[in-house]
Amino acid sequence: MHIKKHHSRLLTSSQIDRADRILDARIKSRTPLAYLLNEAWLGRHRFFVDQRVIIPRSFIAEFIETGLAQWLPARRKKLRALDLCTGSGCLAIVLAKTFRGMHVDAVDVSGPALEVAHVNIKRHHLQSRTRAILSDLLTGIPESVRYDLIVSNPPYVRTSSMRALPMEYRHEPTLALAGGTDGLELVSRILDSARQYLTPKGVLVLEVGHNKKAMEKTFPRLPILWLDTLSSEGMLALIEAKDIPERSKPRGQKRGKT
Ligand SMILES: C[S@@+](CC[C@H](N)C(=O)[O-])C[C@H]1O[C@@H](n2cnc3c(N)ncnc32)[C@H](O)[C@@H]1O
Repeated sequence: MHIKKHHSRLLTSSQIDRADRILDARIKSRTPLAYLLNEAWLGRHRFFVDQRVIIPRSFIAEFIETGLAQWLPARRKKLRALDLCTGSGCLAIVLAKTFRGMHVDAVDVSGPALEVAHVNIKRHHLQSRTRAILSDLLTGIPESVRYDLIVSNPPYVRTSSMRALPMEYRHEPTLALAGGTDGLELVSRILDSARQYLTPKGVLVLEVGHNKKAMEKTFPRLPILWLDTLSSEGMLALIEAKDIPERSKPRGQKRGKT
């Protein structure tokens, strides 16, 4: 009944024009609807988006709301977390909204993406507990800082798959998708330095897409707990700080097997 009523609502001519323009862009340029409407949803949270950021769809959001609590220390008031590769700021915001006492740093190397993150942090009224930081992964974070949690949904699409991406994905920033030859370029850099930024009982949660096998091959000795969500299997890796090797080489040097 409600749907029928909604569908039979009369539109003004300017609303019809706008709908036509959106349909036209969606069909002809295959622009994702989220960019056309400047709106994307991650679970029950709404975010502003435009082409400066990837459209939020990380499985980490569901884990934050349903499975993360057991991995955090009981004293919840002073929790400190980092969302590496934050894009629109969506995961940082889901963290701050789920854990009321948590302070969250949201890092991205893209200035334009951080402008969008700022908009979202403000819209969710989280300026007092969430700050956006321009940094190439962890290189801009003071070495004295320690986090209880680092989450990251880094770019992880392999170079060979980048070429085969559907048109819709090509409207998203390449910087948000391209993960190098094996898709693990950013993941490896994060693993290289994450330990020193985590508390002794801290945890790292990484989204790696379809790169589970490649990750196990590249890091054969790394204890990884693979987390499933309602809509993903083996795409989220949880690694405890104590299991991450200490950084053994200067920043920026090529990786080896862990
Ligand atoms: C897959 S998107 C994830 C965005 C957001 N966290 C989400 O889940 O929707 C990856 C993000 O990593 C950022 N990025 C790429 N290289 C980076 C680097 N070296 N340091 C920090 N951020 C980086 C991109 O700008 C992009 O915003």
